[in-house]
Amino acid sequence: MQRRNFIDILLGSGILATTASIVYPILRGLIVRTADGELRAFSARCTHLNCTVQYDSDERQIVCACHGGVFDLNGKNIAGPPPKPLLTYSVNVRDDEIVVSRV
Ligand code: FES
Repeated sequence: MQRRNFIDILLGSGILATTASIVYPILRGLIVRTADGELRAFSARCTHLNCTVQYDSDERQIVCACHGGVFDLNGKNIAGPPPKPLLTYSVNVRDDEIVVSRV
């Protein structure tokens, strides 16, 4: 392998890793529409040990199946071992697009 090819691969890998580190947390987001129609977005990573949380439509809350963590629709930890609320994202609706970004 020539030195130039090695450097190209190294730079390409660095750019890919940087992009993934920015996009990945947003892709693991959870968007919930409240009873009054408001959209809220949270990180889908549980604050206990980083399992993926899910929306429970029957109970109208966010749950973590790993250890029984429960969050309300404000992202606040209300039961189980999670030590703090879910990370909250900002949600903006523009025409027919939903834009989720870090607060
Ligand atoms: S990782 Fe979610 S409750 Fe433990």
